[in-house]
Amino acid sequence: MSAAIIDGKAVAEQRRQLIKQQVQQRLDQGLRAPGLAVVLVGENPASQVYVRNKQKACEDVGFYSELHRLSADTSQQDLLELIEQLNQREEIDGILVQLPLPGHMDEDQITEAILPTKDVDGFHPYNIGRLALRQALLRPCTPKGIMTLLEQAGIELEGKDAVIIGQSNIVGRPMALELLAARCTITVCHSRTKDLAAKVRSADIVVAAVGRANFVQGDWIKPGAVVIDVGINRLDDGKLCGDVDYAAVSQTAGWITPVPGGVGPMTIATLLENTLQAAELHQA
Ligand code: GUN
Repeated sequence: MSAAIIDGKAVAEQRRQLIKQQVQQRLDQGLRAPGLAVVLVGENPASQVYVRNKQKACEDVGFYSELHRLSADTSQQDLLELIEQLNQREEIDGILVQLPLPGHMDEDQITEAILPTKDVDGFHPYNIGRLALRQALLRPCTPKGIMTLLEQAGIELEGKDAVIIGQSNIVGRPMALELLAARCTITVCHSRTKDLAAKVRSADIVVAAVGRANFVQGDWIKPGAVVIDVGINRLDDGKLCGDVDYAAVSQTAGWITPVPGGVGPMTIATLLENTLQAAELHQA
């Protein structure tokens, strides 16, 4: 058997077209375009690529966007002051501080400084708390994008066993909250988990977010399982690959997301959705 491919690139493109239309409707009604401020501190090469892609996506759908590039030695206080200015500006609906921040900075304090209604990453404790209580407002982009993919693929979630590999604040934890809200039974695995392979073998849905190339093995997968690969790893030859051994896993899985072209494009499309949602919140 060979798995059906969940085409994140195609779903993301559909979403972006929809957002473009909604932006046009806003303009026709005399409302302004949604505005996103992206903050990049330092020169992390991967972050520079992500930020460029986010900005380009904003331009494509007609958002206003601005990039604040700060040097790696920027002080915590200076970044907090920039966030406060952005919090107060009416034309800015979303504020995204690209992570990771340089080591001398306190990411938690920066995340908490963003106004919760402008927190288009959904990382503020207010937004994570609302998600935990099934009263979500702005939801973290990657997990929300994965929920969109599962829905678009017509995959039933209620009562399914889901195993998430990775417990990060950005993906693993909010992913667990999303799937729990969808009435899955959740297991979150991490570096201290005993017998990971056995846990993955029990799963109807596997979400891999570990950041290790080809980590999830073909013989860990229950036949017909849905496998979502969040990893973006660059190999020595420059090629991108996920956290899942795609060639082997796609023999056994029922559904699989490719890398590239799976979760990655959905994260960006969902950031656009969140920015539009934030603009609507600010308009109300
Ligand atoms: N670094 C890796 N993923 C993300 C993300 O979704 N948002 C931000 N702000 N930083 C990241």
